[in-house]
Amino acid sequence: MPSYAYFKKKIIPLEQANINVMTNFMHYGTGVFEGIRGNWNKQRRQLYLFRLREHYERMLNGCQILNIDMPYSLDELCDITVKVTAKSAFEEDIYVRPLAYKSSEALGVRLHNLEADFLVFVFPWGPYLDTDRARCVVSSWRFPKEVPRQKLTGLYVTNALAKTEAVSGGFDEAIMLNADGYVAEGSGENIFLMKNGKLITPPGSDGPLIGITRNTVIQLAKNELGIDTIERHVDRIELYAADEIFLTGTAAHITPVAEIDRRKIAGGEIGPVTKKLQKLYADIIVNKNTKYSSWCTPVYKK
Ligand SMILES: Cc1ncc(COP(=O)(O)O)c(C=O)c1O
Repeated sequence: MPSYAYFKKKIIPLEQANINVMTNFMHYGTGVFEGIRGNWNKQRRQLYLFRLREHYERMLNGCQILNIDMPYSLDELCDITVKVTAKSAFEEDIYVRPLAYKSSEALGVRLHNLEADFLVFVFPWGPYLDTDRARCVVSSWRFPKEVPRQKLTGLYVTNALAKTEAVSGGFDEAIMLNADGYVAEGSGENIFLMKNGKLITPPGSDGPLIGITRNTVIQLAKNELGIDTIERHVDRIELYAADEIFLTGTAAHITPVAEIDRRKIAGGEIGPVTKKLQKLYADIIVNKNTKYSSWCTPVYKK
């Protein structure tokens, strides 16, 4: 099954969507990306895009930061994405990658006097961390201070350094601290701790991306399990004493953390709250739980 891309205002096969080597964003990280999941419901033979509008709302905020004049409205972005996903016709879980970028074929470090464009493509992508219990390590790479926590392509070099440091040390994922030494997030996920019956997650002011899965989990914990989430500073040491820890992200879904810095969390097992949230989330993203149907955009016309 071929993948398709929406590129330069047309839907074309993904392998034909190529960019000139002088394109500005490739050199200076002047792009904003998103990651959206399409989740396949086998019984209904339908693919659901999860929280599509919220992803594009966040992307438009990122565009503001980079002075990218997005050539499409929020509705048009959603519409293009449904069309390119439908054209790809996958019957499995997929990932959608939109990118708004400085498209001028012009070098020079700046945001001004550059054109911008938008593309989006679709491809099948299975579990991101490829483990049901992640072994994590606190990274020696810290987030730089006063950097906008948006999905700006140039910012992800620190995350890439952290991830490779973790994987080359035999771990699945890196936990990143901010410049003040507080826990911020994983290299591609938000982090939650369960302690004494409450969920805790670092606040946006400590550097994490404000994840859409993070927001989903906060709502589900409150509405379905009666558990409040406290947003506050988290010290590295607190991680070791947590009752449960899990990571959240569009790519990683809800991934339990079994180990941090070679210390077992929840005895290395999946904690009870993590398990309940995983089950709720797994049903919701394939539109099995109709209470949350408004979060699921069907791709195929019936
Ligand atoms: C650094 C980082 N943190 C957190 C997240 C989770 O965000 P979301 O749940 O919106 O996918 C991501 C996901 O893309 C990420 O790249």
